[in-house]
Order: sequence, then C-alpha cells, then structure tokens
Amino acid sequence: MASVENRYARSARRHERAKKSLATGVATAMRAAQRPVPLALDHGRGSRVVDLDGNEYVDHVLGFGPLLLGHCPPTVTAAVHAQLDRGSTFGAQHELEAELAERLVEVIPCAELCCFSTTGSEAVHTALRIARAGTGRRKVVKFQGHYHGWVDPVLVSTPGTPAAAAADPVPLDPVPATGGQLGADEVLVARWNDAAGLEALFAARGEEIAAVLMEPVACNGGLIEPLPGFLEKVRELTAASGALMIFDEVVTGFRMAVGGAQEVLGITPDLAVYGKAIAAGLPLSAVAGSEAAMAPLLDGRVAHVGTFNCNPLCAAAAIAAIDVYRGEPDFYARLDAHMAALADGLASAADAAGVPLRVRRSGSLLQTAVGGPATPREYAETLASDREAEARFSEEMLNRGVIVLPRNWWFSSATHDEADLQLTLQAAAAALAAVAELAPRERKVPADA
Ligand SMILES: Cc1ncc(COP(=O)(O)O)c(C=O)c1O
Repeated sequence: MASVENRYARSARRHERAKKSLATGVATAMRAAQRPVPLALDHGRGSRVVDLDGNEYVDHVLGFGPLLLGHCPPTVTAAVHAQLDRGSTFGAQHELEAELAERLVEVIPCAELCCFSTTGSEAVHTALRIARAGTGRRKVVKFQGHYHGWVDPVLVSTPGTPAAAAADPVPLDPVPATGGQLGADEVLVARWNDAAGLEALFAARGEEIAAVLMEPVACNGGLIEPLPGFLEKVRELTAASGALMIFDEVVTGFRMAVGGAQEVLGITPDLAVYGKAIAAGLPLSAVAGSEAAMAPLLDGRVAHVGTFNCNPLCAAAAIAAIDVYRGEPDFYARLDAHMAALADGLASAADAAGVPLRVRRSGSLLQTAVGGPATPREYAETLASDREAEARFSEEMLNRGVIVLPRNWWFSSATHDEADLQLTLQAAAAALAAVAELAPRERKVPADA
C-alpha cells in the first residue's frame, strides 16, 4: 500500500488549492470531516468511484444517499442525455412534470397531489408552510436528533448538538445548530419514541401546533426505528388536534420501498417530503400529500415558486429511476439481502477484532456505532458511542479501498454485488483490527459496552 501521504497526494493538493477560493475548501460542511483528507473524486461507475490519485473504492456514501442505482445508471443517464438535447430548462410547463407527478401518486400511499422543488431542505420548508397556512397555527414539533435540512427554523437539536438532560420536560430547549439562525422559537422539540411526552405536549399546547415533523425511521441521529405503537400515537394525536403529521422521507423515500417508510410501516401521514433517491443523483425534491392537506396550494394561501422546480433534466432522471425501482420485482429484496449480508459480516468481523461494534439495520438502511446501546430508543442514547473510533474506522476503510461516511452510515445501491461485499468485509476485518488497537485512553467506550 502506498504511504498515506502519497496515496492521497492529489486530493490533498486539490483541497489546498480549493481553500484559496472556496470557503473551507469543501462545498458542504460534512465533507470537511473526511480523514485523512476530503477526497476528490474523478469519476464513478456502478458501485465504484476513482479518486484523483487513481485509487478505486467501493462506494458506500453514494452521494449521501441519492445513488440507489449506483453511479451512471444507464437508463437514467440515457433519459437525461435525451432531454438535454431538447432543452435543459424552460420556465414553462413540459410533458415530464405530470408524468412524474402521476408516478408519485401511484406509488406513495399518502399522495393524492404533489409539488416539486430542488433540494430536500426546500421541500421541508414548503411542507411546513403548507401546514401553517392550512391550520392557521405557528408551532411545529420536531424530535431531538432528527435532521430536516439546513433552513431556519428546523435546524435545531440536530445531530451534533448536545442532548437535553434526561429529566428535562418536553418541550426541550431548542439547540441551534449554526450561527445566523432565526425562528427557533416556533419549534417545539420532543423526544423520539416518547409517546407520553408528546401526549403531554398536545394536552398543554395542542391548539398552537400546526404539524409534527419526523424522520419516520430516525436516520440522522442514529438509526432508530419507531417503537411499536409510537407512530400510531402520533397519528392519533395529530388527527385529534387538527395538526398535520409530516414524514420527512428524504432518506427513507424510494430507499426502504418504492412507497418509502410509510409503505413499510403502514402509517399514512398527511404530507411527506422526498429528495435524494427520487431522481437517482439529480437534484429534485417533492412534497406529496392528501388533497385536504395540500389545499393551501390549491386555493393560493401558499404560493409555491422556484426557478428550477421540476427542471426537465431532473424530471427525466426521476421518471427513469422510479420505473426501475418499481419495475424490477425483486429490486428491494436484493437491496435488503445485500445489506443483511453486510450487517452480518460486519458483526462477525467486529467480534473477531474485539470491537464493540453496534450494527443497526432497518431493511436497506444500515449504520454502525462503536459502543453505546445496541438498540437506542432516542438520540441522547446514541451519544454514548465512541466518535473517535468511528472516524478511525472510516479512515481505515478508506485506506483499504472502501468509502464510508465518517459517522459510519452505510449506503448501498442495486449495483453493489458479491465482489463489493467481499472487498468491503475484508477491508472491515483489517480496519476493525486497527480500531481495536486504539490506546485505551483514546477510547470512551464503557468497559462493559
Ligand atoms: C432526513 C433529511 N431531510 C432533509 C434533508 C435535506 O436535504 P438536502 O440536503 O437535499 O437539502 C436531509 C439531508 O441529508 C435529510 O437527511
């Protein structure tokens, strides 16, 4: 293996050069966390990417999740090329808009109507505006540790912020995640899986609450499924008080099932937000919902605008992608099977290395953590894991040809095959052995973890 310095020399030089003109040298803050350097990629195909130094990797980052069909999926690429020859954006209606909307209405349980924007953050913003205009109320309930994009005012109590003390009553104090924010006083922060806390909040302040917003399987602050009955309780409380239940399916949408988490969990929200995998790598997002919930758009109480909304290139990509997702009968079964094999292999490798790796899987969603509880119920419990060891694991994987996010999320695509799996597991065995060698004083894992 080349020395680490030589292995990433071009990526390192590219980062140094970028820092002179691009603030921080990266275009989104998360990339700055990659060690030993923010990697600069040259190209990708299927499950693999190649960096500027010519190193090839099995890619488990996949653009932070959108690339459910891997890099350069042939039908999506062909559809985008074909549209590019006909025009890249119009400022007028085009045929693909309704075609795409019809597909969403067909596959998403809550969708009777939808509207489009470009990023997940924007779509969340739209959904909240619809909820506020529709209910005439201002407050939105969000859960500690859930992430809904970078817009004010939901960028509070996100992953990376400290958790409230266990004894603190709901609503918890919102913790802003960045400087320059407004609007945190319109958010009521609750605890995921705390039905009693939410019930008390509705009893005290139900008349102020426009919506309860959630990641239906909490992906961003640890992979935490809803406990049995929790979502049913949220559905009951929102319906009784006239608030909207909003699923943020930016990660789970099209990835857990073509109809997203709501299809898998059997709970139908009033509104749901989609991004990431909807267009297999092109920027497109959507809000879908019942006709009643979407009424503020129909009667003009909410004006929904955006230069690139349902841009034809992105619409072409989304139509082609959704046709693959729903067209291949065993698409999701194969994805789940790959993730199950990866999860089992990682657990065995960790046992062999003596690392307390917590392997959490929900269908095709997979995350690992070093230490902490095996099955956390809430964000605060995930903070017991060893962040240093997790970052080291990711770095050791990178050195062995596998890219995993520093916080140890594992995305997979339909193009990840047995060879990718074996390469990943071989790398994991060696990387975990290196993690096990971290000096005890560097480890924050409790002895019995
Ligand atoms: C659950 C969730 N919602 C919303 C967003 C924001 O999407 P975007 O980055 O496209 O604005 C993200 C991004 O990671 C997300 O994970």
